[in-house]
Amino acid sequence: MQMGAAMDSGTVLDARLAALLDEAGKAAENSYSPYSKFRVGAALKLTNGETVTGTNVENTSFGLTICAERSALVSAVSRFGPAIRIEAVAVTNLNGSASPPCGACRQVLAEFILPEAPVVFPAPDGVKVMPFSELLPFGFFLKKK
Ligand code: THU
Repeated sequence: MQMGAAMDSGTVLDARLAALLDEAGKAAENSYSPYSKFRVGAALKLTNGETVTGTNVENTSFGLTICAERSALVSAVSRFGPAIRIEAVAVTNLNGSASPPCGACRQVLAEFILPEAPVVFPAPDGVKVMPFSELLPFGFFLKKK
């Protein structure tokens, strides 16, 4: 995608989010999705300057499937440790469909993401950008010990 490209919906992405969306698309090329054929990629921009990507990995026991967003998050913590903070997220798929992050992924991202972090994803009417706090207004949290 071009920098600052205008999306189908008329949303204009800044160059940083457009690049993150490109990274998500590249990650989707590695999708293991023989059951749904739905190829998803996610890219997380961390406050340490690093970008970490992930893709969905399905399983023949369907419930064991991991989504692209959680795949990226697990990778980010594994590489950079538990202090990571996410400042932007991009999600896309190679099927030309809407794919906002699912509820489970929102709850898992909530643990590490800045509330104001932009989340970019394909919506039914084109690419959409929303602050994370609007995607998960009432996440569940426990006090950390
Ligand atoms: N999927 C994701 O990777 N992210 C989401 O937020 C929603 C769904 C994957 C899981 C499964 O491999 C396929 O999409 C169809 O549900």
